[in-house]
Amino acid sequence: MTGQFTRTEYLQLKKHLNELAYNYYVLDEPQIADAEYDQLYQRLLRIEQQQPDWVSPDSPSQRVADQPLSKFQQVKHAMPMLSLGNVFSADELVDFVERIGHLLLKSEQSYNDIEFSAEPKLDGLAVSLRYEKGHLVQAATRGDGAAGEDITANIKTIASIPLVLRGENHPDVFEVRGEVVMPRDGFKKYNQWALANEEKAFANPRNAAAGSLRQLDPRKTAQRPLAFYAYSVGVVEPDHDISSHSEVLDWVKSLGLPVNQLNRVVDGAAGCAEFYQLVGGLRPTLNFDIDGVVYKVNNLAWQEILGFVTKAPRWATAHKFPAEEATTVVEKIDVQVGRTGSITPVARLKAVDVGGVTVTNATLHNEDEVKRKDVRVGDTVFVRRAGDVIPEVVKVVESKRPPNTSTFQMPSNCPVCETKLVRVEGEAVLRCSAGLSCDAQLKEGIKHFASRKGMDIEGLGDKLVDQLVDAGLVKTPADLYNLSESQVAGLERMAQKSAQNLLTGIKVSKETTLARFVYSLGIREVGEATSLTLAEQLKTLDAIMQADDEVLQNLPDIGVVVAKKINSYFAEVNNQEVINQLLSVGINWPEIETADEESLLLQNKVVVLTGKLSIFTRADAKSKLQKLGAKVTSSVSNKTDYVLAGENAGSKLTKAQDLNIPVVNESWLQNLIVAES
Ligand code: IVH
Repeated sequence: MTGQFTRTEYLQLKKHLNELAYNYYVLDEPQIADAEYDQLYQRLLRIEQQQPDWVSPDSPSQRVADQPLSKFQQVKHAMPMLSLGNVFSADELVDFVERIGHLLLKSEQSYNDIEFSAEPKLDGLAVSLRYEKGHLVQAATRGDGAAGEDITANIKTIASIPLVLRGENHPDVFEVRGEVVMPRDGFKKYNQWALANEEKAFANPRNAAAGSLRQLDPRKTAQRPLAFYAYSVGVVEPDHDISSHSEVLDWVKSLGLPVNQLNRVVDGAAGCAEFYQLVGGLRPTLNFDIDGVVYKVNNLAWQEILGFVTKAPRWATAHKFPAEEATTVVEKIDVQVGRTGSITPVARLKAVDVGGVTVTNATLHNEDEVKRKDVRVGDTVFVRRAGDVIPEVVKVVESKRPPNTSTFQMPSNCPVCETKLVRVEGEAVLRCSAGLSCDAQLKEGIKHFASRKGMDIEGLGDKLVDQLVDAGLVKTPADLYNLSESQVAGLERMAQKSAQNLLTGIKVSKETTLARFVYSLGIREVGEATSLTLAEQLKTLDAIMQADDEVLQNLPDIGVVVAKKINSYFAEVNNQEVINQLLSVGINWPEIETADEESLLLQNKVVVLTGKLSIFTRADAKSKLQKLGAKVTSSVSNKTDYVLAGENAGSKLTKAQDLNIPVVNESWLQNLIVAES
């Protein structure tokens, strides 16, 4: 007993915190808000300060050691860490599956279709974690497969890796293997931070993960956003009696370790091929890099029959995706002026195939990036095309730099309108502040205005916009509506017929919708979805123009930053002027019915989301619910009207049942969306 806390209370709090982490990281189902977690954690720290002898190694406070290591110790793996063979095509995949089939038949195993555990091949660093009596005692890198380095102190800083296994029933010795990765969002943020703080930025998330684990000071590793996914087990004592790999992974998950959610059990070569396509399609949208998929014979008895060739199993193979990186030569560096005046240096490259796409341009982002990477004309560079981002120059191969190159200098004036460039404090980009009086911004602005998601002007392509601006015929978007046939027909390569078509396209575009109109204005940070929200929620242009920060921030998906951008756009006299001109040339849209508020299907209903959703992402479900009039809150109480529960829903579901609150699923939401539209 202490003045305030009992030992039991402390142990319960510690257990509760570990359980919250499991729900958050492994089940992807947060139970409480981050701030609430922090409060509980602070409380734990206070108790530990008063009672230092209560602190045990499984306390979340013990994740970060406060001493750097002088070097990493070598660790011999109790069971070697293997590598994988590869297949590179659908044909090779069929060969791989047939070969396994033959071997199984030779061993008198009968089967219809061979089941595989199909998994993404995560592009990070392989590690092996060893738990003894449920406690994490050692973590090692793969090294050469036989021995690696002891990185226990660093691994402990990864919040999703449990320091103690869950439950009572764990083996005496439990080794689990998996991949440490740096998620793409964390990688981006980390690099931004590194640049601002004169630290080393990393070329890609894999290097970032590897570099972070190789830190001798765990306090540094603790600041890196790392994640872990388990994909197999090593030594387990006493041995388990599970018969398939997928069940092993389920077990691993139940012991508290994260397992990738894309893993599936599939049948035969066709099932594997389908998985390859599926995951390949998802690749750009994932928050972690993958370089392929892995197929593993699911039946563990068969794995044993199939055995190994030198260092790789016969029962598994990797199926690689096209590489996302390639090297090529920089032929020229240009700067581009964007729609909002941002100045972007762009490397013009000798054409190269990157992941199946020919790349000739790659962004160098901004002034700081060019300086940091010191990219010069003539350099051989790594180009990367990851996710759905535009290709970027990652790194110079310095050993290949030709003699007599010079560093690249950003211009001090706009390359198009000569206005002196400015750099707003806190921003990395240089900007031309001339707005529509800069021809480059005018051109980009008009292209955006006329684009398919905007005013959708048929027949007004990019080249034509350039010509119209260059000829001085269009100085604001409104000028489009005053063009005459003879003006247009006078342009190069413009026949009378196409001039007529363009004018018709322009005229037709006058009949639009409020959402399209708002989008076409090109307000920073306001894309298609935000424009639609503004139109649907505020109903009139006047209301949108007059909405203050508070009104805007209360709309679904609009936060502080976007609200500010909207407000400052409409506060500009020049912008008001352009809007007036557009309205006076006759642009119009059907009035949006100010529907009786009560008619929204979930008007004023309070909904709580829980569990793993499969149709919607959480953010998506939340915004759909809000659009139906609902308030989405995070905890279940007797004020809650519905609990929308996905897979593996936990305490919130139980609470809803206790309180007799209707529990609904994602199809319920889908039906409401259909009914409302
Ligand atoms: S299984 C006996 N599964 O790929 C099989 N490996 O080339 C051992 N990797 O060093 C590996 N995702 O770092 C396996 N789902 C996955 C994987 C995976 C990534 C990496 C791992 C390993 C390398 C093998």
